[in-house]
Amino acid sequence: MAKAKNTIFFCGECGYESTKWMGQCPACKAWNSFKEEVIPSLSFGGTAKKKGFGSENTVISITDVTAGDVSRISSGFEELDRVLGGGIVPGSLILLGGDPGIGKSTLLLQVFHKLSSAGNEVLYVSGEESGSQIKIRADRIGEFDEKMKLFCETSLPDVEEAVRRSNPSCVVIDSIQTMYDPQIASAPGSVSQIRQVTGVFMRLAKETNIPVFIVGHVTKEGNVAGPRILEHMVDTVLYFEGDRFASYRIIRAVKNRFGSTNEIGIFEMDNVGLREVKNPSEYMLSGRKDDTSGSCITCSLEGTRPILLEIQALVATTAFGNPRRTSAGTDNNRLNLLLAVLEKRTKLSLSDKDTYINVAGGLKVSEPAIDLGVVAAIASSAGDFVIEPKTVCFGEVGLSGEVRGVTQAQRRITEAVNLGFTRIVYPYANKNAEIKESGAEFIAVSDINEALRAVSRKG
Ligand code: TYD
Ligand code: MG
Repeated sequence: MAKAKNTIFFCGECGYESTKWMGQCPACKAWNSFKEEVIPSLSFGGTAKKKGFGSENTVISITDVTAGDVSRISSGFEELDRVLGGGIVPGSLILLGGDPGIGKSTLLLQVFHKLSSAGNEVLYVSGEESGSQIKIRADRIGEFDEKMKLFCETSLPDVEEAVRRSNPSCVVIDSIQTMYDPQIASAPGSVSQIRQVTGVFMRLAKETNIPVFIVGHVTKEGNVAGPRILEHMVDTVLYFEGDRFASYRIIRAVKNRFGSTNEIGIFEMDNVGLREVKNPSEYMLSGRKDDTSGSCITCSLEGTRPILLEIQALVATTAFGNPRRTSAGTDNNRLNLLLAVLEKRTKLSLSDKDTYINVAGGLKVSEPAIDLGVVAAIASSAGDFVIEPKTVCFGEVGLSGEVRGVTQAQRRITEAVNLGFTRIVYPYANKNAEIKESGAEFIAVSDINEALRAVSRKG
């Protein structure tokens, strides 16, 4: 069969283009990811004589631009505002990704509830649910007034027209994978459709100064389905994540043109939608059993916020040849490294022991400042001693067993003291961060042996 000339192959993972099919993508090395699509009749991102995003199409000097006219809109959720860098920036395109059923639609509906109650007209475009289905969910969240507009449609030109005509103060597109441009032959959710749809919404947001949230589904690897290019095009990429079995949800920014990407926001799902968790440390420590060995409280910094976490360790004799070392919530390679340091620099013998680490509450932490907490929890389980429940222990552990200083030690210590912890084991390098007037006992340590002596002490 003669091959149609007007088709092109796209890598479904990264958006790489090729005129012929390939088994492996040369750009992202994904196997079997190429899909054939008809070349779109439109050039991406509009026509050749397309105007710039500003009102005038001229070169200007940066000193002539005033940033003061960017007044952010509050989403009504402090947790979300902080992740966005202080609120929603007008004219920004925000991608919200997450597993199915994690609560993306619920979160945006709640944001719209708050925005519309504050007198803003908002437009919720749904390609996934019918009006009555959205209404069922909305009734659980609260009472909406007529400022909240719904549009259940998947055709891109219709949605674009509706947005321009109704000129709302914020738009949600739920979801990007259901929207399609009839001028492009490929199916909704395909690479060229997603590129086209995102391009149109980007232009729409910049031209009208309306902030647009787009919901994106994630693949089993955890990336937003569709090519990486989607993440490059938008201003902000937020991921909504959490354990399916736990009720808390975490929102984090992986890209943000208008703020930092370190912040996280914590929510809890209950029967009236999502609720903000304003004090995550208390939340993470609730339900803790503090009279067992193998448990240590440490402090991790998420953005500007210190969060106290319980590290649990279980050390047990290996039944088979190779010891198992697994960690949930922390990096497995880091666990292997810390076990090697413990083996070499202390008297503990762990080579014939299985070691399991768990960060209680299901939070994922990658910060090295929790090393000392992990080490202490392992030693506590291996030596079967209970760490005093009011002890907090943090610091980075180096290969020679030294305890290294961490950033923002003062913040961590303040959080621990505020929550009633009375013994703080921390790096000697952060000695000046201690708060003498708090009455807590401060033990600055410079290596892991000192740290283990400090945490195993009674009284
Ligand atoms: P949803 O917002 O539909 O997820 P997504 O858009 O990310 O696919 O998530 C809904 C889930 O949250 C669903 O499994 C039910 C649950 N839920 C509650 O527990 N309480 C509530 O008040 C609402 C509205 C949903
Ligand atoms: Mg949804």
